[in-house]
Amino acid sequence: MRFYIETYGCQMNEYDSQLAEYELLRSGHEKCASPEEADLVIFNTCTVRKSAEDRVYGQLGHMKRYKKKRTIMVGVIGCMAQKSGQKLIDDVPHVDFVLGTDHLDDITRVVRFLQEHPGEKIVLTDQDDAFLETEELPRKEAQLSEFISIMRGCNNFCTYCIVPYVRGRERSRDPEHIIEEITRLVEGGTREITLLGQNVNSYQWGKTDFLKLIRMVHDIKGLDRIRFTTSHPKDMSPEILQTLMAMSKACNHYHLPLQSGSDTILKAMNRKYTEAHYRSLVETIRQADPLASITTDIIVGFSGETDADYKKTKEMMQFAQYDSAFIFKYNPRPGTRGWEIADDVPGRKKQQRLEELNAVVKETSDKRNALLLGEEIEILVDGRGRSSDIQQKGRTGSNKVVVFDSEEDLYGRLITVTITDAAGWTLFGEITSI
Ligand code: SAH
Ligand code: SF4
Ligand code: F3S
Repeated sequence: MRFYIETYGCQMNEYDSQLAEYELLRSGHEKCASPEEADLVIFNTCTVRKSAEDRVYGQLGHMKRYKKKRTIMVGVIGCMAQKSGQKLIDDVPHVDFVLGTDHLDDITRVVRFLQEHPGEKIVLTDQDDAFLETEELPRKEAQLSEFISIMRGCNNFCTYCIVPYVRGRERSRDPEHIIEEITRLVEGGTREITLLGQNVNSYQWGKTDFLKLIRMVHDIKGLDRIRFTTSHPKDMSPEILQTLMAMSKACNHYHLPLQSGSDTILKAMNRKYTEAHYRSLVETIRQADPLASITTDIIVGFSGETDADYKKTKEMMQFAQYDSAFIFKYNPRPGTRGWEIADDVPGRKKQQRLEELNAVVKETSDKRNALLLGEEIEILVDGRGRSSDIQQKGRTGSNKVVVFDSEEDLYGRLITVTITDAAGWTLFGEITSI
């Protein structure tokens, strides 16, 4: 069959889509570029906020039209599949199969069964604690920058969050498999990898903890850059940060989800750190490396958030001077502990806080970019710009895009540029050394 996978949600879902893709390719199916050409359309879904679900329902609705014209198979996988199971087929009868987060490796078996038994439906959502992975490299061609899952699930149960329920308990992946996968990718041309997990700092496999794993990855010859996400502030410390900052391949970008700047709300959210601890992390980074970037996630309007709590968040944002931030309006999710508590901040107040904080981020990120003017920075060249034939672009370790001109194709090279201009998220540079 010709298949097409549409992915929603976070980078972990992107990685899982690659696993699903590999499983399908391995059993002889063929990938295609759009749902219009496909015989099999798969939606890898997210359920973190209701809006993520609404988007999937919207897209699934379109499939009905496709199905009227010709025979196609429609599958739903990922977090929303795990959460909703049979309900997805009850709501959208043209869905043929639903596979929860621990059933990606069943995909080819399920597709084969449905080919042989047209009209049947399959729903698999039971969960187990195995680390799901394919035995071989889940890609045919290595990209310059790749994601690698190092752990699955989450044990933190932040009050608002559905992820631990749909992704199951936290389990780390065998470091040997991680190293093997990265080594193979590097042999295929990868220069930068991002280690993925809901809370990478709690990685643990026997005696191998997160720092030890990073050291092992650091030793891989030919790999230039290491990124990781997400770091839970409760498991990050100034000492770990200092160790990371001393590693030449570790990128100077720290994603530290704040969620709230108020101790009362952090406690209600079950985040297990204080505003003072978070502040110490920011101070450590800013003191050691003023050009490092710090990014975050924030929820406004969590249950019980007063004007004073909100003000604390705003103050922390001003203190941290984020390079970028995702601000979300609190959306209670069924099954979480937050669901049981009154969602008592009115919608317009959430909206107002969201807009105000977005304005703060815009201001701080512009300031952070302006700070880079005149600086010489290393970038990994990863593609072409849009304005001319000689325009190319790359990324700084701090994860900012720099556009520059060069007659020579520098794709895949680490070069140094001097930053000459900043416009929004994009920086402009001139080559200093190649
Ligand atoms: N494991 C990561 C990310 C989890 S989901 C972490 O710990 O940060 C990504 C972001 O979605 C979260 O950081 C949070 O800001 C947001 N989020 C999660 N549940 C939410 C909810 N119920 N309402 C609004 N935003 C939510
Ligand atoms: Fe959700 Fe908290 Fe786990 Fe992140 S750490 S996935 S926010 S429960
Ligand atoms: Fe969404 Fe699942 Fe990721 S709920 S944010 S796709 S872990």
